[in-house]
Order: sequence, then structure tokens, then C-alpha cells
Amino acid sequence: MLTIALAKGRIEKKVMEILCSKYPLDLNNYKNSRKLILKTDYFNLILVKACDVPIYVDTGIADLGIVGRDTILESSLDLYELRYLSFGKCRMSLAAKNNQIMDNPPSILRVATKYPKISSKYLNEKKLSFRLIPLMGSVELAPLVDLSDVIIDIVETGNTLKANNLYEIDSFLEITSSVVSNHSSYKFKKAEINNFLEQIV
Ligand code: PRP
Repeated sequence: MLTIALAKGRIEKKVMEILCSKYPLDLNNYKNSRKLILKTDYFNLILVKACDVPIYVDTGIADLGIVGRDTILESSLDLYELRYLSFGKCRMSLAAKNNQIMDNPPSILRVATKYPKISSKYLNEKKLSFRLIPLMGSVELAPLVDLSDVIIDIVETGNTLKANNLYEIDSFLEITSSVVSNHSSYKFKKAEINNFLEQIV
């Protein structure tokens, strides 16, 4: 039986909708509960914070993980990205208060982000000198109070940037929710995994 680590919140809601339409699940014990392990006749689900999904899969506790690609890439773990899903679409962007800042960037660019690894890779590729300011949330605040020159963050509707008078200067990575596996599960449970993937599209 497959164990699937599911990111709590928006992804969980969407995935549960899909799974309920494909499998006759009895979720009476799940709805409005704080349960973290859901056993069904078809698979077991463990509900975890999005940033923790990769570690549950990498250690083999879960065979599959469902979470945003941003989280997978930021984890830097060697997981198989098996399927990009049609929901959770957003992008990773560099944004700033000053629309022209990257035309003549400061000698050391101060970059606030929840994604230090993705940001470092992007900034190194651009051959920029930078200092990362790691934050856990509300990253858009940083340039407004002069904690940073720019931010690198996910943009979905663009409403947060707009509400805070920030410009999206460079959108450099498309993101969707994705299904990942570890090497061992994919090797030994391939048929079960492929069967599940057919249902989740
Ligand atoms: C994410 C992201 C942006 C916002 C973008 O934050 O970090 O702040 O959503 O969405 P939008 O383009 O539709 O406005 P999240 O809601 O996860 O909260 P956080 O800032 O506390 O991390």
C-alpha cells in the first residue's frame, strides 16, 4: 500500500477533492478533524507542512509526496519529479519597489526571500553580488521598510505585489503542484505508483 505525504492547506483541499471523485473514500473521520494519518482502503495519507513533504519522501516514510515544485527545488533532495499537476500554478519572481533597480543594481544586492537556495542559484547565474535576507513569510514587507532592495518570492495572482506597490521585474521559474517519489519506492512500487498517477491527473 502506498503512503502519500500531502502538503496541508490549499494543495490538500484540491487533492482530496480529486481523490474523492476517483475513489469511494469514507472520510467521515477526516472532515473537521486534526488527524494527521488517514488510512483508506487504497492508500495511506500523511498530512504534513509543505516544507516537510520532501524529507518524508526522501527518507522513505512516504512513497510519494504532493507539494509545490518550489518546495521540491528548495529542498535540493534527489527526488523523482513524476508528474506536474494542473493546479497550484504560480511563478518565482524577482520584485522591487524600484522598477529599474536591476538596470544598475547596488554593488551588493540585498535580497529577501523564503527560498535561499533557489535565489542563490538564480543570482549566481546572473553573476550578481548579493546578500540574502532569509525570511519565513510576508516577504513583500522587506523592501517597503528598506530591509532589502528586492525580493524573490512566488507570485500567483500578483495581488500582494500590487497591494504593496512592488514591481515584478523578472519571472524566472514556472511552478505547479507536483508529485515526487524516492528512488526506492519508484523501483519497487512502480505499478502502484503509476496507477495512482493515472487517477491524480
Ligand atoms: C505567498 C507568497 C506571496 C503571495 C503571492 O504567500 O509568498 O506573499 O502568496 O500570492 P499572490 O500573487 O496571489 O498575491 P503566502 O500566502 O503563502 O503567505 P506568507 O507570505 O505568510 O508566506
